[in-house]
Amino acid sequence: MPDQIKNQIKKLKEQINRADYRYYVLADPEISDAEYDCLMSKLKELEEHNLQYKSADSPTVRVSGGILEGFRTLKHKQKMLSLDNSYSFDEIKEWMERVYKSMPRLEGEFTVEPKIDGVSVNLVYDKGSLSVASTRGDGQTGEDVTENIKTIRSVPLKLLESSDTPDSIEIRGEIYMRKQDLSLLNKEREVVKETIFANPRNAAAGSLKLLDRAIVAERKLRFFAHSLGEYKGDTPLTHWEFIKRLQKWGVPAVEEAKVCFTFEEIVGVCQAWQKKRDSLDYEIDGMVIKVNNISWQKRLGVTLKSPRWAVAYKFPAQQVTTKINDILVQVGRTGVVTPVAALDPVECAGVVISRATLHNFDEIGRLGIKINDRVVIERAGEVIPKIVKVIFSLRNGNEKDFVIPKACPACGGKLIKEKEEEVAWRCLNLSCPAQLEEGLIHFASRSAIDIEGLGEAVIEQLVRKGLVKDFADIYQLKKEDLLTLELFKDKKADNLLEAIELSRKRELSRFLYGLGIRHVGEKAAFVLSRKFGSLKRLMQVKLEEFDAVYEIGPVMARSIYEFFRQESSRRLMDKFSSLGVSPRSESLIVKQGLLSGKTVVFTGELKNFSRSQAEKIVRQAGGSATSTVSKNTDFVVIGNSPGLKYRKAKELGVTVINEEEFGRMIL
Ligand code: IVH
Repeated sequence: MPDQIKNQIKKLKEQINRADYRYYVLADPEISDAEYDCLMSKLKELEEHNLQYKSADSPTVRVSGGILEGFRTLKHKQKMLSLDNSYSFDEIKEWMERVYKSMPRLEGEFTVEPKIDGVSVNLVYDKGSLSVASTRGDGQTGEDVTENIKTIRSVPLKLLESSDTPDSIEIRGEIYMRKQDLSLLNKEREVVKETIFANPRNAAAGSLKLLDRAIVAERKLRFFAHSLGEYKGDTPLTHWEFIKRLQKWGVPAVEEAKVCFTFEEIVGVCQAWQKKRDSLDYEIDGMVIKVNNISWQKRLGVTLKSPRWAVAYKFPAQQVTTKINDILVQVGRTGVVTPVAALDPVECAGVVISRATLHNFDEIGRLGIKINDRVVIERAGEVIPKIVKVIFSLRNGNEKDFVIPKACPACGGKLIKEKEEEVAWRCLNLSCPAQLEEGLIHFASRSAIDIEGLGEAVIEQLVRKGLVKDFADIYQLKKEDLLTLELFKDKKADNLLEAIELSRKRELSRFLYGLGIRHVGEKAAFVLSRKFGSLKRLMQVKLEEFDAVYEIGPVMARSIYEFFRQESSRRLMDKFSSLGVSPRSESLIVKQGLLSGKTVVFTGELKNFSRSQAEKIVRQAGGSATSTVSKNTDFVVIGNSPGLKYRKAKELGVTVINEEEFGRMIL
């Protein structure tokens, strides 16, 4: 019997690993998502009931949540180097000549592959299983990000079996984010007014350092392997052979590493990639040229920071010069105020450019920019051109200093810096015309206050016709107002009015989420609603009180506090209330804060509830249901065949109750 279970677990693990490989590495899935989920839940169940067979390389570790306390540092077995950059083919030629000096000219000498714009990591596989993963750090020592890396499905937890699986190996590569995943992530961040990630590299780096694994898992990070660290076993002879081995082991490697024999061939491969760069679904910023033969690599050795056997060819950023005619100030839809340079139109990388962002006011000082200056601008393959430098020698005395505005150019509201060290200035006025349309679209959306029929097109007309000047105006709309809108007849107007009416009774959490307060997502809105119960109360809460809430960090606390302290927000809340919109906390609707502030963990199989029902009840009763047991857990509810969490609870002395006791507690 135990053997049978052990085999079943082994088989399920293999099936899931294979499915991950087909999906994330080959992009050619064999089974449906539903079948995959089914395999995963079977495995989870078997493991929970047979803890002796649960191993660290099980695919179930990718889905179990948990908050890390911080990252410990780890020494790499072999130093992680960086690459020397070159910006022209002449430099590549010079590099090749240096290489030829130290080694004989043989065939199949170089490989050429894309340079992925991501974050480098080191993955250690011992006996074929992923044991640790770390960031590059200073090259010698990095941070241990194993738990986060394990959430990335294209990183195999176990190498596919093969005769040449090494005893121990360090596989180096890049964690990156696809362009489309980054743009989705940025859209979500805009909604909660988080600063957007400027490029996939920042997004990948930021995500890897998150302490909450559940969020890391949502970030859709991916992996490409590109080089070798320590190798214990039968070392491959060439880099190309190493890439082939990686593919055999199920590790995604840089695409199409090409073996080249001559300088001309290398140039050809680089140019071909440069051409297709924009159509790739991931960002590359150049090419990497490597000496193919690994024993030659060893012979060539390394300098202080980079190997002599490899070099990066960075794609050129196109630069042109033009004049700054003016510096305008724009308010973005998230309220951030950004200076923008109005330029004499000029062509750069095939596009006519007449504006360039200056990012923030500090940037103007850093570059020493004045109005009427001549400047160098650059497009490095990205969307937004940037100003590289001022050509001071061309100044003629007509230049004028730029003065930072004190008030929002769109509404005259006060501009605020979130933190002293922050560079961005924002306008927090929800009714600011620059932010109103986008803000309303979010407010009316399904996961917020949910007004059916109040979509983008209707909002756009309402705002432009001046019928809605702030969020609360929605509740003053009359039928005759709606009838002035395009395609609005009797019935449609009635339906919308009815939907607006219904939304008056929505829960406080949805209302708060709908306000789009910076950093406040659905979960935080729920916590705020449960904790403070009403808008009236939220307007009185002190900064320390927000800060004291477990789920609210200091940055979010300040953002919420600043929001409710704003004169414009207070006026708006009063207006809502005078129009009869006073959303109530769900904790007051359900079991009045019965588990208020309590943290509950479930383990084992429950008879009367599904896991998600039970967790929902906890939340409705004012508590939070988490997945890991710690000393902050108030109690652990055990069902049939409880798992590891039960043991942990006993170790930590956390109160343990059974399902019946839990039932009595909430009913
Ligand atoms: S080889 C000894 N190959 O670029 C150097 N690196 O700027 C081993 N990178 O730190 C690296 N794509 O993280 C190599 N195909 C590729 C790469 C690549 C991206 C990163 C790598 C390195 C950085 C250097």
